[in-house]
Amino acid sequence: MTTTDPSSSSPAQSDETRPHPALTDHYDDLEKKQSFLRDAFDDAAPYYEGIAKWGWFGSGHSYRKDALQRAGMKPGMKVIDVASGTGPTARAVIDIVGSADLVTCIEPSAGMLAESEKLISSVHHQAMADDMPVDDNDFDFLTMGFALRHVEDLGSAFAEFHRVLKPGGSVVILDITMPKNRLGRWLMKIYFKHILPTLTRVFTRNEAASYLMSYYWDTMDQMVPRETVLQALRKAGFSEVDEVEVLGVFTEYKGTK
Ligand SMILES: C[S@@+](CC[C@H](N)C(=O)[O-])C[C@H]1O[C@@H](n2cnc3c(N)ncnc32)[C@H](O)[C@@H]1O
Repeated sequence: MTTTDPSSSSPAQSDETRPHPALTDHYDDLEKKQSFLRDAFDDAAPYYEGIAKWGWFGSGHSYRKDALQRAGMKPGMKVIDVASGTGPTARAVIDIVGSADLVTCIEPSAGMLAESEKLISSVHHQAMADDMPVDDNDFDFLTMGFALRHVEDLGSAFAEFHRVLKPGGSVVILDITMPKNRLGRWLMKIYFKHILPTLTRVFTRNEAASYLMSYYWDTMDQMVPRETVLQALRKAGFSEVDEVEVLGVFTEYKGTK
């Protein structure tokens, strides 16, 4: 694992598009968001693999793999997986490209990285999405699974994604988003605000893991609309920007450099 200082300030941000406003029930202001997240994910890291298996509407290995193939990922491609956590999306990538040596994992939480390194032999960098210690024009594909809401600023992250991809390279961002209809949004709230944190507490017997799940609902409730994400991708220089919606809750954002 190589380490950059993930708390060092990110590149100058112009035209800022925050994924959501400050969530003051959890931290005082946006300056504290990244350190809050690192602590929260460090504490919940030993439990994340379990929660990812049963807690996310079955967004497990086969969903991730299908989504990446839908976006055009092929054997032999060189891929960077941003916000890789314990590695669920990176493992789906490895299944497609055929070798862990073709995959680079980027993750700011030391706890999540440590769990990932037990499971995947790929290169790991401790870094944030908007400041990655890798060369320009180096990757065929960039993936980000269920983490877009955590970046500091969409514009800075997408500019960095554009920098590291080869010309013609692809970005695919997997996310859970609010359903368009009122009933779907109500069900989503019941599940993410109440059921998931409770189940997490029961299964893990860990308060930090349960707390992280309630935090997730607040980010979902406050997340910018999908069109704002698409616009930020276009503004960062991506073409063929599009989204695929699956089952009304999974959104796959795509673009080409
Ligand atoms: C919900 S987990 C997703 C893990 C994995 N990608 C997956 O598919 O399940 C979100 C991850 O985003 C990471 N993260 C938080 N802030 C980040 C940032 N600014 N840049 C990159 N990753 C970040 C967290 O540490 C955490 O591991």
